Amino acid sequence: MFSHVQEAPADPILGLLETYRKDPNPNKIDLTAGIYQDEQGKTPILSSVKKAETILLSQQITKQYLGIAGDRIYAELVQQLLLGEDHPLIAQHQVQTIQTPGGTCALRVGGELIKAILPKATIWLSSPTWNNHPHIFGAINLPIANYPYYDKNTQGLAFDAMLEKLQQVPAGDVVLLHACCHNPCGIDPTPAQWQQIADVAIARGFLPFFDFAYQGFGKGLNEDAYAIRLFLEKGISQLLIATSYSKSFSLYSERTGALTMIAETKQQTENVASQAKSLARSNYSNPPAHGASIVREILSTTDLKQEWLAEVTDMRERIAKMRLLLVQGLHERGAKHSFEFINQQYGMFSYSGLTVEQVRKLREKYSIYMLDSGRMSLCGINLRNVDKLCDAIIDVL
Ligand code: LMR
Repeated sequence: MFSHVQEAPADPILGLLETYRKDPNPNKIDLTAGIYQDEQGKTPILSSVKKAETILLSQQITKQYLGIAGDRIYAELVQQLLLGEDHPLIAQHQVQTIQTPGGTCALRVGGELIKAILPKATIWLSSPTWNNHPHIFGAINLPIANYPYYDKNTQGLAFDAMLEKLQQVPAGDVVLLHACCHNPCGIDPTPAQWQQIADVAIARGFLPFFDFAYQGFGKGLNEDAYAIRLFLEKGISQLLIATSYSKSFSLYSERTGALTMIAETKQQTENVASQAKSLARSNYSNPPAHGASIVREILSTTDLKQEWLAEVTDMRERIAKMRLLLVQGLHERGAKHSFEFINQQYGMFSYSGLTVEQVRKLREKYSIYMLDSGRMSLCGINLRNVDKLCDAIIDVL
């Protein structure tokens, strides 16, 4: 039965992380996955999360299934983080959220929803995009097209080419946009560029689908929601949002996410959400409770929320500081071209511009691991390894 089965290729991100973990070199550096690490190279449990878990442990009285849509209060809190506390669309019941196992399932259910309710739609992905996007949508045979995003020459946003392509997207198609901290580039449109993207969305009539996995890691919690709030302000009244709290609450293994659907009327929104629920039921049935309970506890407890806000700020600022040190270190060592572009990027990632040969040499000679595409997760840089990293990069350059 199984004799014909070939080994599947390793995942370019999590597969590489496994290889890193097996490397016995004590000086190895992990720049693989978008997983926050502190100065000690550890992925900490946030103090706000620990406190919330202690409260939950003493109060929990059941392990009953959640409903298919998950925790209702969590869903309301997700909406407030996305849109702000008093957004009129929330009051008008035009926003529905279902809790999902991580952002990946939010994307998967979102993709299945598109296939079910917009059977002729193609989904447009930025080029490049998160490695898993084409796999998630490809697995359900959702037609995929691409729009330009990264300009190799300027190492910045290929904005004109992006806009030109978006102007050709047929009405009724879906455009996946990274709300902030673009994965893998770290390059985000400016507010003025988001205005233009929103105008094209209105003119063309495509459905924006925001992937929002890094809220708080760009400029701040509200600042990072700028694009989504702007699209709504401009009158776009139908969109989808996939949320992940793996990063902002450091809840990676708890698989805590959400799919939010916004439609033109209360009835439409309820209908769309009911379709999403039915797709979730045949996929994972109902979501796991623990991560969402933690988020709910933190966001609805004033002290814990304050503590969490400070912790998100610390994580964001530590990564930004490592960007600065990396760029400074490369320039001090006489790098032939400017790496200043790294300081213009946001979030956990940087598209370093290193070639696959250079990346492989870093891996083989120095046990420094980053994706073959040259994407570095800056989370793995700290004060103890930044000099070694700079020396090694200069060497392979
Ligand atoms: C990444 O891009 O490294 C993260 O989103 C982790 C993952 O699941 O790929």
